[in-house]
Amino acid sequence: MTETKSLTLNGASHTNGKAHTNGKIKVNGDVQPNEQLVDAFADGTVAISANTPELVPGLVDQVASLGKDVNLQDHKDRSTLLEAARSLVYALETPREAMIRYCWSQATLYAALETGVDLDVFAVLSKDEKPKTATDLAAATGADPVMLARILKHLAAMGVILETGPNEYRRTGISSSLSMKRYNDAYPCMTNCITAGVLALPAQLKKDSYANPSNGKDCAFQRGFNTDLHFFEFMKANPEIASQFNNHMSAYHQGRPSWMDVGFYNVPSLFPNVEQNDVLLVDVGGSMGHDLSEFRRKWRDAPGRLVLQDLPEVIAQAKIMQLHWSIEAMEHDFFTEQPIKGARAYYMHSVLHDWTDDHCRKILTGLVGAMKRGYSKVLINENVIPDTNAYWETTSLDLIMMADFASTERTEAHWHRLVESAGLKITKIWSAQKGVESLIECELA
Ligand SMILES: C[S@@+](CC[C@H](N)C(=O)[O-])C[C@H]1O[C@@H](n2cnc3c(N)ncnc32)[C@H](O)[C@@H]1O
Repeated sequence: MTETKSLTLNGASHTNGKAHTNGKIKVNGDVQPNEQLVDAFADGTVAISANTPELVPGLVDQVASLGKDVNLQDHKDRSTLLEAARSLVYALETPREAMIRYCWSQATLYAALETGVDLDVFAVLSKDEKPKTATDLAAATGADPVMLARILKHLAAMGVILETGPNEYRRTGISSSLSMKRYNDAYPCMTNCITAGVLALPAQLKKDSYANPSNGKDCAFQRGFNTDLHFFEFMKANPEIASQFNNHMSAYHQGRPSWMDVGFYNVPSLFPNVEQNDVLLVDVGGSMGHDLSEFRRKWRDAPGRLVLQDLPEVIAQAKIMQLHWSIEAMEHDFFTEQPIKGARAYYMHSVLHDWTDDHCRKILTGLVGAMKRGYSKVLINENVIPDTNAYWETTSLDLIMMADFASTERTEAHWHRLVESAGLKITKIWSAQKGVESLIECELA
């Protein structure tokens, strides 16, 4: 196969200075028809051939070499191999197969997962290593055995559980995590307050002539959930959904490097001159206090007080979940005056990405008014979208933000603009690895 032909089955790729665009090949600036590609479109072979065949050999080598010495306990090692394997799947998969995966398997897998969570079938399946039949599981959960057998078959086909025989299954790591509320609440949470907004995004964007969404009270969320409420008003009106959302917030970043780990941000740089009665950290919009609890666990001897702030209904839930005694919980609306003056650091994790720049400026300006010059910092723990090679978890979140909040994940230039417009300056951005929120350290300008 010639070089040109090897590239013909993909819409746009580049090799040896030749740029290919749908059915045409660009050589030295002139666009000429690429006959093989034109043929592939005409007879449909483009849809049933590997997606990017030219990438396959390199990716196979990469997976083989990374797989040889992989240490599965090492997050970076394991995730690098996983990403290479995922890229290999994307390169090998045909457009038809991709279509079926996107259009059939994702929604149906989701339905099967959420049904399994609601039935608590994963808890029964995962209580020990013994394989269980669909009939056993139906008897334990009260479900119709015929219906459950169909759901289980799909879960096994999609790798969620392991098939050990006809209608017989065994637990996996995924099924075990699905028996834990902190993790399994993600599924009803997405159905109850996220996914309908995302599915309504195309229609909403069309209605708005493809403008970038900028009104959190009139975006795809309101269309999808048939409501006039902003996302957080909707949470207030639906405490059970809010509790699922808060659990999801506490679980989604588990197992990844955290800004407070040694080697990420210089946490001890916050300690000098902080007395026991001073406030070391205020976690603004801190949800259930999971970040402060982690901080207390990792920095037992840190001086000063830790204060958790969030809306009243969230603080009430955090108290029920039994915060560490040393964490002070405080109801506070971050659009009102910050009551804790002169803290060493005001910390916000995944808060500003929920809001448009105008709202963020209000939140940040509120902190500016409480800060002590030369001492207080604002620590923003958020994604910094790179100019190239953005990670799929981050881009997924960005589109969720677009759909449900009319807000955004931000690039480094955007962060500078926003922070500076509120009277702050970024002193340093500390980053770990792709897809992990950075720590953006700010001071008064
Ligand atoms: C995306 S969650 C992030 C929670 C937490 N910081 C984390 O990273 O897991 C945003 C948080 O902002 C809180 N929030 C929303 N509006 C607020 C307001 N006006 N004042 C204070 N907190 C608010 C929500 O209740 C929620 O806990």
